[in-house]
Amino acid sequence: MTLIVCPDPDSAARLLADAIERAVTVQPRLVLGLATGRTPGRAYRDLVRRQHLDPGLTFRNVTTFNTDEFVGMPPEDPRSARFFMNTNFFRLVDIRLENTHVPRGDAVDLSLECQAYDQLIAARGGLDLVVLGLGHNGHVGFNEPGSSARSRTRIVDFTESTLAALSDGARFANLEQTPSSALTLGMGTILEARHVMLIATGISKAQSVHRMFDGRQGPAVPASLLLGHPKLSVVVDSDAASALRNPGVDIEYV
Ligand code: GLP
Repeated sequence: MTLIVCPDPDSAARLLADAIERAVTVQPRLVLGLATGRTPGRAYRDLVRRQHLDPGLTFRNVTTFNTDEFVGMPPEDPRSARFFMNTNFFRLVDIRLENTHVPRGDAVDLSLECQAYDQLIAARGGLDLVVLGLGHNGHVGFNEPGSSARSRTRIVDFTESTLAALSDGARFANLEQTPSSALTLGMGTILEARHVMLIATGISKAQSVHRMFDGRQGPAVPASLLLGHPKLSVVVDSDAASALRNPGVDIEYV
């Protein structure tokens, strides 16, 4: 596993964009797992810029699977993960929209939607690379504390602290408007990806990064389950790394 500490959020995003660009160049038919969020969003914007500068960089044959979607949220709702991905990445590069997948939070049969999502990933040969952000309570995707390492795509109810974080006004105006659950790629599906990359920046992520590395590995901090993956790369900035004590891995400073 690699733990890379960058000086600031932009250089962390650049490093993630570098890795995605390399993966797509080496493997044009890459099957890529993607998270939403401000932090990975910076890397997507960087990739959009790169493609405009270098037409040789192409996403034409890439297939993507997003990690989560809010239950009840139609894709055209500006607060949905689908809308975020379309407006921040998919519609700005040459990827074929039909090769991009986000679970439908407004599906009539949500369990069927989850099963079909995992089946589709398996039919595409599994994820080559999955890009993750980090939640304030150590969640990845929307695998909240308590998620098992073998969990599959499913409905997860938000914890009180996630509800509070989501209803801070940035996306959802208040608790009443905040969905109470999401569909999320399971930890099992994430751990089966051939390469896992997690990005966390800013002081607000310092405690989660600390709990991921310095605490006991287990479902209480879902991100810590990633430490068991044979090919994990974690990219943080110095603020997010500031509470690390004894991570037990070599840190690379770039
Ligand atoms: C939510 C999403 C995750 C994302 C995380 C971090 O919890 N479900 O996929 O990684 O937020 O988002 P941000 O980078 O905006 O802090």
